[in-house]
Amino acid sequence: MTFNINHMTPVLFGEDASLQTGERLKGFGCKKVLAVYDQGVKNAGITDKIIEAIKEQGIEVAVFDGVKADPPDTMIDEGAEIGRKENVDGVVGIGGGSTMDTAKVINLLLNNPGKVKDYMGTGAELKPGRPLILVTTTSGTGSEVTMFAVITDTGDENKKKGMAGPLVRANLAIVDPLLTVGMPPSITADTGMDAFAHSAEAITGQARNPMSDLLGEQAISLVMKYLPKAVKNGKDIEARTQMSYAAMLAGYSFNDSLTHMGHSLGHTLGSIFHIHHGNACGVAMPEIIEYLAEDVPEPIRKIGQAMGLKIEAGASPKEVAKEVADALVAFNKEIGQKTLKELNVKEADLEKVAREAFDQGMWRLSPRETSAEDMLGILKKAYAR
Ligand SMILES: [Fe+2]
Repeated sequence: MTFNINHMTPVLFGEDASLQTGERLKGFGCKKVLAVYDQGVKNAGITDKIIEAIKEQGIEVAVFDGVKADPPDTMIDEGAEIGRKENVDGVVGIGGGSTMDTAKVINLLLNNPGKVKDYMGTGAELKPGRPLILVTTTSGTGSEVTMFAVITDTGDENKKKGMAGPLVRANLAIVDPLLTVGMPPSITADTGMDAFAHSAEAITGQARNPMSDLLGEQAISLVMKYLPKAVKNGKDIEARTQMSYAAMLAGYSFNDSLTHMGHSLGHTLGSIFHIHHGNACGVAMPEIIEYLAEDVPEPIRKIGQAMGLKIEAGASPKEVAKEVADALVAFNKEIGQKTLKELNVKEADLEKVAREAFDQGMWRLSPRETSAEDMLGILKKAYAR
């Protein structure tokens, strides 16, 4: 067995941990930083307190508050331009996955000339960025601890592309569950399902390893227990804390073991229909699990056990996968995740989705040789549900 363990992002976790952002930046020697966020986080009143805490440490703050969902490369370029003009020596991203991915890439562009497109998928060599702190305000993406950024390539039909590697990572992740309290139920469910998908794909993918299995299984059991509570009552601090922790574990899990078919489909559905990433990745997960029944029976059994299912020892791989898939369909319903039909995807669009998902490289880590036709079959089954 040969595998990588790359998760090295240090974490500061806990209630009000975000108020230590200034001290931590000071520890990195920063004198002036770029705070990166979106209007939603700003309007929720999250950024003011954190920026104040940074200024209290005598650190100047420049702002880029124009982050958009599914971050377009051109938007990231704008942010980087502000950081360069302001001559900042550090970056703080405050927000969900889109903001944290944006902050990661802006930070790299501070020390690397040109635009995002010069580096996205080009193999061009990158120099390390400056000190970067990511303060997550959602619980799902795991971006705070991963070494990936997902970017929308506006020059290529808005396809989602990635940047990956040890340089695409924060020097510190700050996970403050209190920042997630204001998330509405639908975003809570969407982001939580993203954490489930990260874990389920890490556990079943070709790059799985024993450590990412452990992390993913624990994340799944916490998601099953606490996500419905967090969706029902956003002020349930225990549920919020456990979901923040679960999302972080899932992030560590897929940082090494990566994702596969769920994220190929998810990124494609996101690119074409702007469906929320978590819902898009989870929408066909039950069908993917059934599709992989015979290829990874033990990992699927582990997922079922982590979900709390009492699976009989003598159950066949197909029976186990069906049980897991059915439980996941019920769970998705319980937390209000939408089906393909409810997301207004038309049956006639499925072929295009399958074709483009096949173009997304992630599915290659599926444990089963997969074709665009297989993807279409999975989508059709999910659509008919
Ligand atoms: Fe994801």
